[in-house]
Amino acid sequence: MTKWVVKDKDVFWPSEEMKKKANMSDPNIYGESLKDQVSFWASKASELFWFDKWKEAYQEDPPYFKWFVDGKTNLCFNCLDRHLDSRGDRPALIWVPEPPEEEGFTLTYRELHEKVCRFSNVLKGLGVKKGDRVGIYLPMIPETQIALLACARIGAIHTVVFSAFSTESLKDRLVDSGAKILITADGYYRRGKPIELKEKADKGVEGTEVEKVVVVKRLGSETKMKEGRDLDFNDIMENSEPECEPEKMESNENLFILYTSGTTGKPKGIIHDTGGYMVQAYLTTKWIFDLQDDDVFWCTADIGWVTGHTYACYGPLLNGGTMLTYEGSPDYPDLGVWWKIIQEKKISVFYTSPTAVRMFKKAGTGWIDKHDLSSLRLLGSVGEPIDREAWIWYFEKIGGGNCPILDTWWQTETGGILITALPGIGPFIPTVAGKPFPGTRLEVLDEDGKKTKQGQEGYLVQKKPFAPGMLRGVYGNPKKYMDTYWSKYGLDVYYPADGAIEQEGGNIKILGRSDDVMKVAGHRMSTAEMEDAINRHPNIAECAVVSKPDEIKGEVPVAFVILKNREPSDEMKKEIKKTTDKYIGPIARPAEIYFVEDVPKTRSGKIMRRILKNMLRGKDLGNITTLRNPECVDRLKEIIG
Ligand code: PRX
Repeated sequence: MTKWVVKDKDVFWPSEEMKKKANMSDPNIYGESLKDQVSFWASKASELFWFDKWKEAYQEDPPYFKWFVDGKTNLCFNCLDRHLDSRGDRPALIWVPEPPEEEGFTLTYRELHEKVCRFSNVLKGLGVKKGDRVGIYLPMIPETQIALLACARIGAIHTVVFSAFSTESLKDRLVDSGAKILITADGYYRRGKPIELKEKADKGVEGTEVEKVVVVKRLGSETKMKEGRDLDFNDIMENSEPECEPEKMESNENLFILYTSGTTGKPKGIIHDTGGYMVQAYLTTKWIFDLQDDDVFWCTADIGWVTGHTYACYGPLLNGGTMLTYEGSPDYPDLGVWWKIIQEKKISVFYTSPTAVRMFKKAGTGWIDKHDLSSLRLLGSVGEPIDREAWIWYFEKIGGGNCPILDTWWQTETGGILITALPGIGPFIPTVAGKPFPGTRLEVLDEDGKKTKQGQEGYLVQKKPFAPGMLRGVYGNPKKYMDTYWSKYGLDVYYPADGAIEQEGGNIKILGRSDDVMKVAGHRMSTAEMEDAINRHPNIAECAVVSKPDEIKGEVPVAFVILKNREPSDEMKKEIKKTTDKYIGPIARPAEIYFVEDVPKTRSGKIMRRILKNMLRGKDLGNITTLRNPECVDRLKEIIG
């Protein structure tokens, strides 16, 4: 067996074999790339196809910036057409359905290209033009990647809504983005059951500008189709032409909008451009996941999140790689399903969340030991801090003590990974993400904007020139863009709202969110959004939602609720959970609900969530005498116990 890592005390390094194999193994790349970041990224952009080369690689007008100005390209062309001659018959997408008795299939680059072209023509036939927004509300089936790529081909802006989000969430996003088309499915399989999606979609489009709904009949069920509005995906694909000219997109024209939670009640539509995003997706996949011809890459993220966009669709395809998509959940028909897939499909690069790792760690190794996982050579982690125990378990039990762990830090806003170790360079250190990706400048600052000393806690920031994959705005809300990212340290410093510590060798340890955003099983949730949802129940006078640590999910939401015209009861708790289901989705269900008489507030009436958070963590509450209602603190302590 090839050895991929070597140990040196508590730290791991790439083996000589790994260094030889890796796409990038020169440690000088960090220093070299920072000498002229713009030229660095421009040289990488040149590895991709452009109809017209850019006139200027980087331009800025803070807090706005552009990459590859006047360059014309097409992301879909770079993902598919570019590979047709050299690797048209290579597998692009391996699809594994959830029902064990159902056979999956593989689409080669040529097959995927044909389907994407057909669907691009379908969208054009429905009147979709460059710049139009297209909603995508689909499960993990190949039609999802086909839909994204088709939008990219014709220059339509896709906005994907996670299929487990509620009707109301879907509606909000469709309204905000002004989508005219929705692509959805009759349903999908989850934990052995067919899950209905179309009825949710039907309600979601009510009162929006959506004129046509394309329905993938994944379940083949007798779903109700609305005459004149709904179209069967398969029917319209059959009658569509298999060739479609890609739209020449100026690099800075929008590619997609993806909604994400912030500190206010409404999710923000994060805008990504075409060229910059493409270059970052391409290079990070190439150097971090090190994709090569013999690799099969499985990123387990749902397409509804940015990780699914960049590493379960665009990044692998930009590199001509082979990727796998699995429809189902990790525990059906049993906890062996992922490991069976890794064995059967010879997955070599595997990218998942710390929550999944902790879940399997708790379940014991019985499920894993039955399978041969020796095809693995790289393991990735994303979305939340990975604790030492989970890291070591992942390394030893899944990687057989032989695969680097790439703890990758990034955000919906950054479009692609910005901090991690590189597999050919290392080091791989438990709980430490690693160095800023070559060509990017990330630092840890104190409250006053000064660089922290090594080992000292501070706030993570990015300095200019900003990485090409970075967001280009908040859809329809420039003020929010300015306030959220560019107000803490000014217009030249991007503020992601994460705490961090820089360690020896410039490696960065991520501490997690420093604002009122929580990561529940890696899913980004906003306390304000959950509070807004709960407050819509007629018997709620007021509420505060904060996170509490959880052994598996990292964090879970806890709600402190003040009732009106109603007594506390289990029934009321159920109703609150139904309310968060309705307005957000089951992932926002509070793990615990406390009925209280008051919550700590400042003199101006702002809820002091920090005090509640510290209480749930058994931490010191600090000075509470400045509260308007310090007396409620003792009462709350009694309730929490
Ligand atoms: O707090 C950080 C955490 O996830 C946030 C971004 O969430 P989202 O936009 O949903 O994107 C997740 C996937 C890219 C960050 O602000 N986060 C992400 N990766 C890590 C992380 N926290 C610790 N370690 C990571 N590797």
